[in-house]
Amino acid sequence: MSKHIALGVDIGGTGIKAAPVNLKTGEFAEDRYRIPTPKPATPEAVAKTVAKVIAKFNPPRKMPIGVAFPGVVQHGIVKTAANVDDAWIGTDLRGIIRDYAGHDVHVLNDADAAGFGEFKYGAAHGRPGSVLMTTLGTGIGTAMIVDGTLVPNLELGHIVIDGHDAEDRAAESARDRYDYDWDQWIAELQKYYSELERLLWPDLIIVGGGVSKKHHMFLPKLRLRAPIVPAELLNGAGIVGAAAAAAVAAKREKDEEKKAAKKAAKDDARAASHADAESEGAPEGEGI
Ligand code: BGC
Repeated sequence: MSKHIALGVDIGGTGIKAAPVNLKTGEFAEDRYRIPTPKPATPEAVAKTVAKVIAKFNPPRKMPIGVAFPGVVQHGIVKTAANVDDAWIGTDLRGIIRDYAGHDVHVLNDADAAGFGEFKYGAAHGRPGSVLMTTLGTGIGTAMIVDGTLVPNLELGHIVIDGHDAEDRAAESARDRYDYDWDQWIAELQKYYSELERLLWPDLIIVGGGVSKKHHMFLPKLRLRAPIVPAELLNGAGIVGAAAAAAVAAKREKDEEKKAAKKAAKDDARAASHADAESEGAPEGEGI
């Protein structure tokens, strides 16, 4: 496979999906592969399934692989699990996938991946200023990209509105849970997005998640200051963003290694010239 390809994996509540992504275009380079999420979705069961979807594409050793997870992922470790098995909390996500898949991976929150994907290739492509990504699904995922830099693990689906966790009333799942019709759900969305605007003042708001396909049913009815637009990568955003973020992380690691090697070589040269200077300056007969 070409060096412009990275593999993206998206761990969701119902499916674990993967596809190789063309980093020049943000398109899938091969058809997406999906396996239903195991039940219970324990770390071992999920990691095994992630290993299977990765193996399907037989990635070369150097190919960057990004894995998106539906909870806070801080420095490779899962910190929250609002809509997944509690056993995940404290799990070394990067480590467990590396153990099962035999391949190093970059791991990140699913909304962060989707937001990064939309920034790189979708509704916020190359856009300066502050872009707020929201995904409406079982929960609400949020991400903020400021002048191209992702602020990770924002977790604004859990701000409290009317005494409730916002995602309980405004996520797509709330429509079933409370049997909301469109207008009732739109009223919840209005409260939610107004509150986000009051606190964050984004330049652009993007709405992703499965329901964003029906954006014409609700987005035109929301009254907000910032433009609010549907995601363009739809369900592919997590995969595409995870792949792109992994490629960026791989490049950063490579650059850091190069820098460290350069510094080590410089230090060695300096030490050698010091040693030379010392031996030249040493009185005769005193050398070892
Ligand atoms: C989690 C977030 C996640 C979102 C979408 C929320 O319940 O706390 O971390 O991004 O659901 O999956």
